[in-house]
Amino acid sequence: MSKGRNSQQAVQAVLWRLMLLAAVLLSVAMLWGCGKSPEKEADTKTSDEDKIVIGFSMDTLVHERWLRDRDIFVAKAKELGAEVILQIAYSDSQEQEKQVQYLLDQGIDVLVLVPHDAVSAAGMVKKAKDKGVKVISYDRLVKNANVDLYLSFDNTKVGELMGEAAIAKRPQGNYLLLNGSESDNNSAMFREGYMSLLDQGIQEGSIKIVGETWIKDWLYENALAYMEDVMDQNPQIDAIIAGNDTLAGAAVHVLTEKRLAGKVIVVGHDADLDGCQRVVEGTQSATVYKPIDIEATKGAEFAVAMARGRMVKANDTINDGRFDVPYYKIEPLLVTKDNMMSTIIKDKFHSMEDVYMNVPKDDWPTK
Ligand code: GAL
Repeated sequence: MSKGRNSQQAVQAVLWRLMLLAAVLLSVAMLWGCGKSPEKEADTKTSDEDKIVIGFSMDTLVHERWLRDRDIFVAKAKELGAEVILQIAYSDSQEQEKQVQYLLDQGIDVLVLVPHDAVSAAGMVKKAKDKGVKVISYDRLVKNANVDLYLSFDNTKVGELMGEAAIAKRPQGNYLLLNGSESDNNSAMFREGYMSLLDQGIQEGSIKIVGETWIKDWLYENALAYMEDVMDQNPQIDAIIAGNDTLAGAAVHVLTEKRLAGKVIVVGHDADLDGCQRVVEGTQSATVYKPIDIEATKGAEFAVAMARGRMVKANDTINDGRFDVPYYKIEPLLVTKDNMMSTIIKDKFHSMEDVYMNVPKDDWPTK
């Protein structure tokens, strides 16, 4: 067999092998392509051109802060080139369930969830995770669900600051506790915080809890009804710890009717405008300022990063009842009459004109 023929055969053999290799590579690529269900596409929108769609499921807009969360979050997400589909459940878990399903059906890349009910929301998280959609538990933790990230304030510290403020004014006496909504895990974290400050006084007998309740859906009217009931029995109350400024407002309303406003200590949280007004007017001793702009901005940034399959660095973990999940927690601040200017006004959370609206101009602190 001639030399020429040999080399021809050799060339043919090499060509065969190359074609075989090409065929193998092609089939692997095709196999890789078919393995990815459209839903799982979410995790890998790596290029900035791919428009990210965020599903933002909120419990309510009834309380002042949520309007701020919504506006800052949506604006930041837009700035980052993402689209936000917003759903508000108005404190109805079934409605929230339907809304989350609707968001998933829209093909969202990431779910940002403010649960109405910390326990039943776990089902919504499971649905999202089954579709490969990442989940951020926003401000309130979903229990037993292993969310990808819990973003909130240090809520136990929020409660500690409230406890500190009350004890500073009333180290002894009868306390009334208006806890937040029982379906909201934050209420338990806040309570854990203020009880850790009250416990010593309770042990020693200098502090007595003469009444305690959980206010359904954090609603003003529910707190008002409870307060009217309690005060009609003319109990001797020295201090009220109210889960947030909405509940504190209801307490002060009833105390005012009884000419006890400013005499009975009231502590709230959220630094709502009316809460801050009561603090500078003296009918409420303190509130807790949570810089919502940080939480909402981080929320949008983290949502876009996670939708692009990027890792988000948390600064703590929290056990959700079954799993230890990453927790990005932000510091809260106690606000009293003395530091209103250097916190709320300095940060432009509210304007001086609004906060001191009912205070004679001569008594306004200098800027
Ligand atoms: C809590 C939240 C508070 C409060 C409340 C009522 O979860 O942390 O800021 O406003 O809900 O919506």
